[in-house]
Amino acid sequence: MKISKKLNDAINTQISEELYASNGYANMAAYFNSLGLARLSELYFKQSEEEREHALKFVHYLMEVEGDVAIPAVKATTSQFESVKAALESAMAWEKDVTERINRLMDLAIEEKDYATQDFLRWYVTEQVEEEANVSHLLTLVEALGDRSIITLEAYLPR
Ligand SMILES: [Fe+2]
Ligand SMILES: [Fe+2]
Repeated sequence: MKISKKLNDAINTQISEELYASNGYANMAAYFNSLGLARLSELYFKQSEEEREHALKFVHYLMEVEGDVAIPAVKATTSQFESVKAALESAMAWEKDVTERINRLMDLAIEEKDYATQDFLRWYVTEQVEEEANVSHLLTLVEALGDRSIITLEAYLPR
């Protein structure tokens, strides 16, 4: 099965978006570490790895469907954050943006009656529900604690 040029290009773009998120989360993890939030930092280094896995999953799919892998330049991400809350808010914005992008990829696969790619993309649709829920949960905790008690957030995170 050969993927269409249009979907192939759109997936290459998405690969760079996943790598952008991966870099963004690594920057965020370093910022959290600088505040002494070791567990939150670890969580975001893990998140950074997950985004790289998302990118590579697309790469492998393109290889399976006789596509061309050509990853575009990855945009620079910020390493400056005003607060934990502000950092998590940008994480939320990235995830929402990715959800929209995945939905648009799905629209394209539906338009082209590419059933295999629809099936493949469904994993990302489900994953995005979890990704948004995780950040949202963290944001709720951070808002409840406030900046002064932020260090106690560590007690709520998985070991
Ligand atoms: Fe992702
Ligand atoms: Fe994500």
